[in-house]
Amino acid sequence: MARKKIIAGNWKMNMTPSQAVELVNTLKPLVANDDVDVVFCVPAIDIIPAMEAAKGSNIHIGAENMYFEEKGAYTGEISPAMLVDAGVKYVIIGHSERREYFAETDETVNKKVLKAFEHSLTPIICCGETLTQREQGVTIDFVRQQIKIAFLNVTAQQAASAVIAYEPIWAIGTGKVATTAQAQEVCKAIRDCIAEIYDEATAAAIRIQYGGSVSASNASELFAQADIDGGLVGGASLKPDFGQIVNY
Ligand code: 13P
Repeated sequence: MARKKIIAGNWKMNMTPSQAVELVNTLKPLVANDDVDVVFCVPAIDIIPAMEAAKGSNIHIGAENMYFEEKGAYTGEISPAMLVDAGVKYVIIGHSERREYFAETDETVNKKVLKAFEHSLTPIICCGETLTQREQGVTIDFVRQQIKIAFLNVTAQQAASAVIAYEPIWAIGTGKVATTAQAQEVCKAIRDCIAEIYDEATAAAIRIQYGGSVSASNASELFAQADIDGGLVGGASLKPDFGQIVNY
């Protein structure tokens, strides 16, 4: 069965609640496309107003992060139950910015992935190498390690429903998109890694996105690659361009 494309916006730390409502209303008609899953991952405080604004549309509102504990004394964190209660289905886990600025590791990513599945949330699990790693020729080894740790103790059934976002760090917010060949090569290596951990059926089901300077002009070529099932889009998800990306 063909995998349904999933195109997600990652708003990062942008948009106040009122701006979020405005942006959802602007983009709603532009992203109306039932052939792909459309997700807006928004700041926690924007989730409820964005959800309200997106009502009746094809837009799923997702989260950018969550904590791996159920509840309690974790000032400033958002629990999986809070996301579920707000109507969230997708949550980004382990974005490179969280790894870089908020000390997330492969181990905390794994804990979050397990916790997300426990609450029937679909994790969008991020991985990707630095420019130095690419230049040193260790990209695939590095990404395989990230994937293997992220999926520790995850069942095949859970893994089949997950989303992986391959985001080379050097391509994020730089306008320096990976070539389609580079993006396809790593996305295929990730799928092969999932086949090794689980089996061919799981590898064939899991959806793998590319992220890093995705734009209206490069989306169609990227998404045409055999192992690229959509994108995780930063900057361009805050603009009408996102409509063009969704309708690549
Ligand atoms: P840009 O699309 O702005 O490069 O960001 C990519 C990203 O980090 C999405 O998670």
